[in-house]
Amino acid sequence: MSLVKKISLAFCFISLLCMAACKADLFTPVAGDVPIAQQRWKESDLTSLKAGQTLFMSHCGKCHQLYKPLEYSEDSWLDCLPEMCHKAHLNKDDQLLIRKYILTRRSFLEGKQKK
Ligand code: HEC
Repeated sequence: MSLVKKISLAFCFISLLCMAACKADLFTPVAGDVPIAQQRWKESDLTSLKAGQTLFMSHCGKCHQLYKPLEYSEDSWLDCLPEMCHKAHLNKDDQLLIRKYILTRRSFLEGKQKK
């Protein structure tokens, strides 16, 4: 195999890896989420945001696809969460964790989009 071919193959492979990583990124809180969350909920940390993600990923994709944070406005999320958490048999504490997680992720992604 020529060097050029090898380099192009390596490049394709790296692009695929990046695409996979970016897809997961939509749902996974990063360090940059923490200050955004703390503006509204002082006690937030990465652990509680990740706890929200875990609840969301394990309960909210059972009846339909996992909706992405930017797929709905903040108001729509706030509207549907009580009903959906009821459907998913989640209590108020869990609902709060999901709410903080999803609204924070939403603001983070929205901020990135605007750049
Ligand atoms: C028991 C099944 C079930 C579970 C579990 C469930 N959903 Fe739903 N979800 C539905 C159904 C059915 C609809 C569409 C009809 C409706 O809006 O009630 C829906 C609609 C939605 C919508 C779209 C609302 C709109 O206005 O179009 C969102 C967003 C949503 N769900 C989020 C969630 C989240 C977040 C969770 C986890 C807390 C969750 N769902 C868990 C059944 C479920």
